[in-house]
Amino acid sequence: MVTPSEKGSGRAGAGPAADHAADRIGDTSRLIHDPVAMQGVVTAARAAGRRVGFVPTMGALHRGHVSLVAAALEDCDDVAVSIFVNPTQFGPGEDFARYPRPLAADIAILDNAGARWTFVPEGAAIYPAGCATRVVVDGPARGFEGEIRPGHFVGVATVVCRLLHAVPADVAYFGAKDWQQTRVIERMVRDLGLPVELRICPTVREPDGLALSSRNAYLSSDERGRATALVESLRVATAMWEAGAACAVIEAAMRELLEHRGVVIDYAAVVDAESLEPPVDARPAVALVAGRVGVTRLIDNMPLRPRSGAG
Ligand code: PAF
Repeated sequence: MVTPSEKGSGRAGAGPAADHAADRIGDTSRLIHDPVAMQGVVTAARAAGRRVGFVPTMGALHRGHVSLVAAALEDCDDVAVSIFVNPTQFGPGEDFARYPRPLAADIAILDNAGARWTFVPEGAAIYPAGCATRVVVDGPARGFEGEIRPGHFVGVATVVCRLLHAVPADVAYFGAKDWQQTRVIERMVRDLGLPVELRICPTVREPDGLALSSRNAYLSSDERGRATALVESLRVATAMWEAGAACAVIEAAMRELLEHRGVVIDYAAVVDAESLEPPVDARPAVALVAGRVGVTRLIDNMPLRPRSGAG
């Protein structure tokens, strides 16, 4: 359920569970801060024959996150959700300090959604003093977010690796909205042989198409109106792709639409869905877009069906 005041940001409703969130904060069996304790409960659940799902998040939960918990509950007996605003994936001048941290509301949302454990580690538990190890993924981490936000994917891969160690689940769930992130995490899991299945779940959108994001809460009402330009540019890209247009022509049309709506473009591109290199005939592709609406940076994407003669 979404209350009227939550509709604009896509925040999932806390509902009646909100009253119990404060109690949950004191419930050490379900709200866990210590990675070793977290690892212990998941290991014990799996040893007892339970299938465990894991949804890593940075909190400020919305219906997109709730859809990941719902997907996990379909496949698994128990679901753990982590809330950790990971400092290493924010660059200098980005929004780490002001990133929303509504912990009690998030816990209430997770209670409503049916999560069994919420893992909220301290920074020092994830990055102990003197910690000198980082996970660097090449390949799909190159370009796009990797170029515009140097170090971002090192931060993402490092924290996800660390979180998967603390929450040794059967399956981990990620949203397709962060397309490049999903490619980077898949590659890391494959290359390091991490013993977890990954499931990538579809982007959840507002009725007008805007992809849900914790950062949508930063938008003024004028900016919120202009922000739909991202999804509109992706719809244009999809139609042109299906009509057989060349990538350069599609990208030019995306840019024209975005510029017309006052979006400061970081990129608007059609690429191979897996490698993020130029598309290859008969393989799935994806249209990617990122830009700033006011001071808020938004990203979105739309998968494209394989076609022959991509150019
Ligand atoms: O997608 C996110 O919320 C974050 O990048 C993640 C995967 C939780 C890592 O901090």
